[in-house]
Parts: sequence; C-alpha cells; structure tokens
Amino acid sequence: MIEKAYHDRDGHIWMDGDFIEWRDTKVHLLTHSLHYGSAVFEGDRAYNGEIFRLNDHSKRLVNSAKILGYEIPYTAEQIDEACRKTLANSGLKDAYVRPVAWRGSEMMGVASKNNQIHLAVACWHWGSYFADKMKGIRLCISEWKRPAPDTSPCKSKAAGLYMICTLAKDKAAATGWDDALMFDYRGRVAECTGAHIFFVRGDELHTPTNDILLDGITHDSLIKLAEANGFKVFKRDILPSEMAHFDECFVVGTAAEVTPVREIDGIHYKPGKVCEAMVGHYDDAVNGRIDMFKPSS
Ligand SMILES: Cc1ncc(COP(=O)(O)O)c(C=O)c1O
Repeated sequence: MIEKAYHDRDGHIWMDGDFIEWRDTKVHLLTHSLHYGSAVFEGDRAYNGEIFRLNDHSKRLVNSAKILGYEIPYTAEQIDEACRKTLANSGLKDAYVRPVAWRGSEMMGVASKNNQIHLAVACWHWGSYFADKMKGIRLCISEWKRPAPDTSPCKSKAAGLYMICTLAKDKAAATGWDDALMFDYRGRVAECTGAHIFFVRGDELHTPTNDILLDGITHDSLIKLAEANGFKVFKRDILPSEMAHFDECFVVGTAAEVTPVREIDGIHYKPGKVCEAMVGHYDDAVNGRIDMFKPSS
C-alpha cells in the first residue's frame, strides 16, 4: 500500500506561532535553507500522549541552529510548548513529532544574515522504523564516511548533513539491506544513517565514541539504562576488524528505538537476551514506567 504523500493530509501544522491547514504550510521556492541545506530539525516520539525527553530535543534544536550561525526565535521551553500543542491538536497519543527551523527567502546567495528564521512543528503516526524489527536488521557498509569536524558542523542536526545518509540508505535498500553502517573519516565504526550502534560481549556494551557524531538522546538513554541494569558500558573507538568478535548488536535512535541487528555485511549476530533486555528497558522508559527520564517539575 502506498502511503498518502506527506503534503496531502488532513490536520494542522504549527508554523511560526499559528496552526495552519496541513496542505497550506508552504515555503517559497527561493528559500535559503532549501538551496543551502541549512534547515535544522528534530525527531521526537510521543508515547501515550507524552513526548519522551522533549526538552532535551528542543535544546538540541536550538543548539543545532546556533552551530549553523542562527538563533531560533523561540526558547527550548517555547518549542516544548509548540510540540505539546501540535500533538494535542493532532489527537494522536503515539506519534512522531518533527520540529524544523529554517532560513527564509529574504536573501538568496550563500550569505545568510538577513534571512528571517522560521519554525514549524508537524506530527503524524509513525510505527516501527524497521519492519519486523525483533527479527534483527541487516546492515551493509556504506562507502560514505562520517565527516571530520573541520569539514562539517557534525554536532548539528542539520538537513545538509543528511545528504550522505540518504545516499547510503537508498543504496542499502536498492541492494537488499535494511540500512547502512557508516565508518568515520578515520576508518572507525561510526553509526547508521539515522541511529547509533551498540555491540555486546557478555555483560559489556561497546559503542563508538561520539566525538564527531550527533549527541544522540536515545544513545544517552541506553547508556544510562544499561548502567542502571548492571551492564558495563564502554564508549570507545571501535575498529571494523573488531565487529566479528561481539555476541550481539543493536542500533538506537528516536525513530529506530532499540532495534536488534542480525548481520553486518557477512558478520552474523543472534539477537539474544541482551537485545531483548534493552528493548524492554527502553520500552519501560518511554512509557514512563521508570522515573529516570521524567522531567523534574
Ligand atoms: C544520523 C543520526 N544518528 C543518530 C540518531 C539518533 O539520535 P536520537 O537518539 O537523538 O534520535 C539520529 C536521529 O536523530 C540520526 O539522524
């Protein structure tokens, strides 16, 4: 079944302070961010009416824009409010929430300083990112590398940085894989096209140092959940040659949640009790069955 196109749906999108009919939320062709890749965005998920770690996502959005040299004209708390209103307006309880900020059309050319900054929040129902995820996904290795910090603003969740993710993901899909694992510019294991990665050996979890990767909110949640449940977590440089020497593997992200991996380009893993345990702990966290990530007030 082909899903209805995203521009052609019922409902409302919050845009620059107001709710606008879904089909009318348009930007002009000569919008700076469309041409130069400078939109920044978030992907939040709501579970049973609550957006998990909402303020952390909103703060990261504000910071992503700052890294690109602009200020979103809303505080993180105002963005939280816009997200909550958008969710309430949609009537959905379990949803994906997408705040996005961008430079407008006042200036065309690489320079950007006179552009107005816009913010919108849309939300929609989005089930599992990977079909049949508990079976484990299969990853190929992309030829695209996560870039060096002096060649990209790598800590910003900036639209432009997804160009290589789309190339990697589309090629993976076209060649029969679920997703692609990317190495970094130094040749170390880095991440998937929209999720971080963990490897398991006994009661140890190993995950790449995220010095040049997005500061993942799910990655952070998983580290805290694993440590609270007796696992030792090692954030370190992981070489591709090590990948064959782990028992289990899983990827994590707001969209992907916790998804077991059963193959990386010929290396096979059997999703087992650690994957199952971490899926369960994350499910408890996002559904508010444990307090660890609940906002303090
Ligand atoms: C490239 C990339 N890596 C990792 C992640 C996971 O980040 P988070 O857990 O904050 O959603 C995402 C999703 O935003 C992503 O796009």
